[in-house]
Amino acid sequence: MTDFPTLTTARLLLRQFRLADAQDVQRLAGVQAVAKQTLVIPHPYEDGMAERWIEQQQNEFIAGRGLTFAILLAASATFIGSIGMEIQTEHRHARLSYWLGLPYWNQGYATEAAKAVLAHGFTLLNLHRIYAPHFHTNPASGRVLQKAGMTYEGRMRQHYLRFGEYQDLELYGMLQHDFLARTEQDSSH
Ligand SMILES: CC(C)(COP(=O)(O)OP(=O)(O)OC[C@H]1O[C@@H](n2cnc3c(N)ncnc32)[C@H](O)[C@@H]1OP(=O)(O)O)[C@@H](O)C(=O)NCCC(=O)NCCS
Repeated sequence: MTDFPTLTTARLLLRQFRLADAQDVQRLAGVQAVAKQTLVIPHPYEDGMAERWIEQQQNEFIAGRGLTFAILLAASATFIGSIGMEIQTEHRHARLSYWLGLPYWNQGYATEAAKAVLAHGFTLLNLHRIYAPHFHTNPASGRVLQKAGMTYEGRMRQHYLRFGEYQDLELYGMLQHDFLARTEQDSSH
């Protein structure tokens, strides 16, 4: 097993979760507006859930099934959210997901983090495909995926039962080939 990677961007530091992050996770992910747009964050977010979730992420990393980063503002080391990939090595693909605490929305942070994780997945992990679904009711997430260069692949109608209601999922994807072509194009400008 390799060491857990740390990624840096212009404004962010992406590192492995620690149990000490649990209080921040509970406080920020516990907000209904954050939880309701994700596939899995429970609501209400009860005591102990964050600790169990962090331990689970550590185990998924050890098993090679996942890579979930805590997102921090680099300048102040403030915890602002999470971004991760659920990896299926037999298909060389991963599902990207993320959330940010409400005070940190609409400042370009999710896009910045997503670009860094896509780059890591395609270059260091040599993944073939990374995909991300978002609820039809969550256009901000669609913008993140578009700005990160992913391609819209279609709508999965009423695919997901969330808090008692069927949700349409909008699906985005990127192939390693697309990513490398895009990187080459960017560096030639
Ligand atoms: C989705 C989420 C991660 C976006 O994070 P963020 O850091 O605010 O994203 P960015 O600032 O990089 O980009 C947001 C984009 O959405 C746009 N946006 C925000 N609200 C919008 C709305 N209601 N309708 C359309 N676009 C919207 C912003 O204008 C921005 O686009 P622009 O740069 O073209 O102006 C954040 O809102 C969040 O954590 N939501 C709750 C959890 C969640 O939805 N997770 C994703 C599950 S798939």
